[in-house]
Amino acid sequence: MVEIRMRVNGVMEALDLEPRVSLLDALREHLGLTGTKKGCDQGACGACTVLVDGERINSCLALAVQYDGREITTIEGVGDGERAHPLQSAFVRHDGFQCGYCTSGQICSAIGMLAEHGSGAPSAVTEHLSADTIELSDAEIRERMSGNLCRCGAYNGIVGAIREAAS
Ligand code: FES
Repeated sequence: MVEIRMRVNGVMEALDLEPRVSLLDALREHLGLTGTKKGCDQGACGACTVLVDGERINSCLALAVQYDGREITTIEGVGDGERAHPLQSAFVRHDGFQCGYCTSGQICSAIGMLAEHGSGAPSAVTEHLSADTIELSDAEIRERMSGNLCRCGAYNGIVGAIREAAS
């Protein structure tokens, strides 16, 4: 067993884990944060996307012990505790989902993608997006979000939500 400490959604957590435990399983099974979903469990669908120090990763491909001392944000932590993140609200307005299984990964990925593209600090994931307009075409949004699959095909709503949140 290996003892690690991670700040998860603003809370310092100490975990005693076998080295083979993925970050996804550590979040879901050890910390009870089931908002992050397991789809393919092999890096192909994006359902497990979380933010590590503001950068999006597929948590199914990551060993939790590699993230000792890092800051993890899951879908449970993207809002400010009282209000939903603007991307969450935009997904609702644009019907950016059908079954909803991919939605947490889509939203975490979109937050990371907009931070990569914009001028804002990637670590400011719990803050609302800046007022700066981030200009991305629909094609660019689709390309940058291509690691997140939606089996229901709600892509028009997903792209619309991201476009709105970025503008
Ligand atoms: Fe991680 Fe599919 S569950 S990419």
